[in-house]
Amino acid sequence: MIIPGRVSQALAAELAAHTDRELMPIKRRQFPDGEWLVEFEEPPGREAIVVASTTSGTAHLDLLLLQDAAREAGVEDLTTVVPYLGYARQDKAFEPGQPVSVRAMARAIATGTDRVLTVNPHETSVLDHFDVPARSICLADRLAEPLSPDLSDPLFLAPDAGARDLARSLRDAYGSGTVDHLEKTRRSGRTVEMEPTDAAVADRDAVLIDDIIATGGTMAEAIRMLREGDADRIVAACVHPMLAEDAYIRLMRAGIDAIYGTDTIERHVSVISAAPAVAEAIADFDR
Ligand code: R5P
Repeated sequence: MIIPGRVSQALAAELAAHTDRELMPIKRRQFPDGEWLVEFEEPPGREAIVVASTTSGTAHLDLLLLQDAAREAGVEDLTTVVPYLGYARQDKAFEPGQPVSVRAMARAIATGTDRVLTVNPHETSVLDHFDVPARSICLADRLAEPLSPDLSDPLFLAPDAGARDLARSLRDAYGSGTVDHLEKTRRSGRTVEMEPTDAAVADRDAVLIDDIIATGGTMAEAIRMLREGDADRIVAACVHPMLAEDAYIRLMRAGIDAIYGTDTIERHVSVISAAPAVAEAIADFDR
């Protein structure tokens, strides 16, 4: 049985189709004090998979309640898929007095499950914080699917060094083109600065790739640089299309031609499903 989190319904349904499992119908109620109650409408059986991105505090709480409901209903073998692991970018205490936020999240998730699978966490080192077997998969190669087959001398560009491997995987999956990355310095939660690129971009098609588009500040600056360099078509691809606040508008105003991502976060640009790769990874997990 697949148990869908409140923000991962489309991906859960795709995964059910790919793994030939049923989808759990769930009732959710909120009490006047704000507390939530979840209720399964069918018995889950002895083996189940919770699929729940933690895009917000409420989504994270929903995941914990679903895990507990599964155990309460007699599930003995529980896999938790966290397609987008919230707080993954808070992977250290940046100042004295701060928590390692992702560790707190991971510990809470690990208590309710036998294993965890996530997708492109910001750093794979976050997997060490789960007290149960935890793995991640990378979907960068799948981002080649929507690309036009006739890109002109394509440049696969990462907005920072940390995303260069994603750009390389995407280029390899596409089959041609060059790979480069920009040098980024974050100035605030919404703004970044970038060193001008040495790469020749004039009249080339450029594919920007990152693990996540959050406020859009990173991509907007990279697009601005490519436009200054007279790039032709510019496409922004990401695994997790968070698109917080006015990110979509920022990218449109910066001059992007297309934006797309996967359904680890369900947005209108989520044109690629993580389900086939998640299904393979679940089958490969040692039991
Ligand atoms: C940071 O290293 C990440 O890979 C992304 O580049 C970043 O989190 C994107 O955030 P934003 O869209 O807010 O610039």
